[in-house]
Amino acid sequence: MNKKKLEELAFFQKLSQRGRTLGLDVLVFTAEDVKPDQTAIRALVFDRTSGKWIRRWTNIPDLIYDRCRYQGPVKYHQVKAFRNQFPKLIYLGRPLANKWVIYQYMSENDRIAPHLPVTVKFTGIPDTVKFIKKHKLVYLKPRNGTGGRGILRIEQTSSGNYLVQGRNANRVILQPQRISDAQLAAKLGALGLTEQYLVQQGINLVLPDGRVHDFRLLIQKNGRGQWDVTGCAGRIGAPRSITSNLHGGGTAAQTEQLLARRFPRAQVAAIERSMHRLAYIIADHLEQKYGSLCELGIDLAVDPKGHVWLLEVNPKPSREVFRKIGEKDVYARAISRPLEYALWLLKQRKQRRSE
Ligand SMILES: Nc1ncnc2c1ncn2[C@@H]1O[C@H](COP(=O)(O)OP(=O)(O)O)[C@@H](O)[C@H]1O
Ligand SMILES: [Mg+2]
Repeated sequence: MNKKKLEELAFFQKLSQRGRTLGLDVLVFTAEDVKPDQTAIRALVFDRTSGKWIRRWTNIPDLIYDRCRYQGPVKYHQVKAFRNQFPKLIYLGRPLANKWVIYQYMSENDRIAPHLPVTVKFTGIPDTVKFIKKHKLVYLKPRNGTGGRGILRIEQTSSGNYLVQGRNANRVILQPQRISDAQLAAKLGALGLTEQYLVQQGINLVLPDGRVHDFRLLIQKNGRGQWDVTGCAGRIGAPRSITSNLHGGGTAAQTEQLLARRFPRAQVAAIERSMHRLAYIIADHLEQKYGSLCELGIDLAVDPKGHVWLLEVNPKPSREVFRKIGEKDVYARAISRPLEYALWLLKQRKQRRSE
């Protein structure tokens, strides 16, 4: 394992420190660090005295908190193989399917469906042209994308022309283009869209200063094994960006303050309640299909009328957004909860074994 490749090392250090106070040892390793005979792992352990990560051969731990990011099919299969090799370990979370499979599953739930933007799989240029003319604002996104990569936004302007904006697969902002109705089909053809793309009703999230925004809600299992909303933060996209992701240059904002810029106080509270309520429903619904989960980062949008829309569900959410808005308690809880939940899971197992 290459330490430089572990982008979340700062988070793992905080987990390790919090783990110590809770009586849990935190070891960091990847599927590549398992000894071929499967009896040990070469892990990184945070050494408090030197303040450094130290490599050490250790036993395979009882609990796994999988933070592996999707890094292509090879790494993905290594992680999957690990789960198959060690089915008896306790896994805090489960992998979810791609955006299209999740969307279809979400739409089966009557309480979630009203919060889903109309979404179809890309089936060709003529269908997409029709979809754009119907919805006026459309987002195109790869079903396996993350961090705003490869997302496009097409808007029909009041003059009847179209504004095409977006980011390429490396997240670089594309030069915005204004095109006529006659050019639309050719432009779509040049974008290299495939069946891997989703075509989605766009929600108008442009603030008066021209920047887009949305919200990231974090819902986690607590130390009693129950879902609990840890926090929710606003994200404002970089100038000229059509996505709000922090990794794409977005900035964080407090939810209440951001909502108060657009809605009267009484409505702000109602919108927040609606966001939280939806999060619990989503978490329960996903667990029915995928089994027990640990935490979800839910991307939510609030349209100009105050209606809440579900944009995306992330099974391995970052929590840096809460540090960025200065909500220290929420940030600390966001780090502590997976560990508290892990302790609860261990207690459950012990009880089961003694019965
Ligand atoms: N239907 C939509 N309407 C408006 N904005 C959207 C829509 N879908 C995505 N976005 C914007 O793009 C961002 C990234 O989209 P998302 O579906 O979360 O994919 P990713 O996995 O790349 O984060 C969102 O956080 C939001 O800012
Ligand atoms: Mg997202």
